Amino acid sequence: MSIDINITVIDRQGEEHNIQVPTDMNLNLMEICKGYELPVEGVCGGMAMCASCQVYILSTEHFGERNEDEQAMLDEAYFVQENSRLGCQIPITPKLEGLKVALAPEEP
Ligand code: FES
Repeated sequence: MSIDINITVIDRQGEEHNIQVPTDMNLNLMEICKGYELPVEGVCGGMAMCASCQVYILSTEHFGERNEDEQAMLDEAYFVQENSRLGCQIPITPKLEGLKVALAPEEP
């Protein structure tokens, strides 16, 4: 049975987008944002090598853990905050119900 979850993405203009996303399609947050035409570039295609998918996790209970490649990329990226994650490294699972993120500024 497919379970959809509700997530909120705040774009760079401060506008909130409430979207329903399927958890059974093996998608990550970067792919979801692109699918909804939010301005997330995903230049490296989800390899944790560009940081163009950086988001700030606002619902702290959903922060999870950065993986090694993600941490290495964030060590070099701009605008990194304590709650930064790479969207492409966040698989969409039922546990993310209620996730709220804000898009980080574009890399200069
Ligand atoms: S798409 Fe490049 S790091 Fe996420």
